[in-house]
Amino acid sequence: MRIHKTKNYDELSRKAADLIFAQVMLRPACVLGLATGSTPIGTYQCLIQDHQNKGLDFSQVVTVNLDEYRGLTGDNDQSYRYFMNHQLFHHINIPLSHTNVPNGIIAPDKACDEYERLIRNLGGIDMQVLGLGHNGHIGFNEPADHFVADTHQVDLAQKTIDANTRFFANVDAVPRQAITMGIGTIMKARKILLLVSGEEKADILNQVINGPITPLVPASILQLHPDVTVIADEAALSKTAL
Ligand code: F6R
Repeated sequence: MRIHKTKNYDELSRKAADLIFAQVMLRPACVLGLATGSTPIGTYQCLIQDHQNKGLDFSQVVTVNLDEYRGLTGDNDQSYRYFMNHQLFHHINIPLSHTNVPNGIIAPDKACDEYERLIRNLGGIDMQVLGLGHNGHIGFNEPADHFVADTHQVDLAQKTIDANTRFFANVDAVPRQAITMGIGTIMKARKILLLVSGEEKADILNQVINGPITPLVPASILQLHPDVTVIADEAALSKTAL
């Protein structure tokens, strides 16, 4: 794991955007794996600026998102499809037909099989962006007694439901299930960027980097990946011995 420590969230966002910029320059038709949540918003804003000011061209890029809530259509403003359209896709020159988010509406088995096939047919993911859940989840791979390899339906952990309540009217409105890429799907990405910000992630980030590899801390599996860059601010790294 390469660890890149930044002063703050803005510097983290710039650094992550620079690495994505380099990936797109290197391979204009690359496959980017993307995440939602608060952490990558600044990165997406930097990429929008790079598109507007530096001509960063997304016309050949294909994206696959990590996850989607079950039961929400793409026009629901709480869906991850809606989030991606509004935080990134509508502001850059990527054809919407090149952007993919798991389907939370159709039968889960079909949605999962189709998503795995799609990623395989694209030739895999060149660079996967990840955020880190407070409980160590990546995508919606929640702490469990084993790792699940492929895209699958999950029951969200109470900690995740509580953390995501901030985006909904109240806790009852948070969906209880989601479709997520599996740990194997994520680990097959050729490069991984793990973005972590804030003191409240300091304990879990230390476990991810220095703790045992265990499905109880799903992101700990990243220790086994050959090309992971952790970009984290000082606050998030405040409990990590480097
Ligand atoms: C989002 C996702 C999640 C988030 C994680 C951190 O697509 O898969 O794993 O990355 O919950 O969320 P934030 O960034 O809101 O703290």
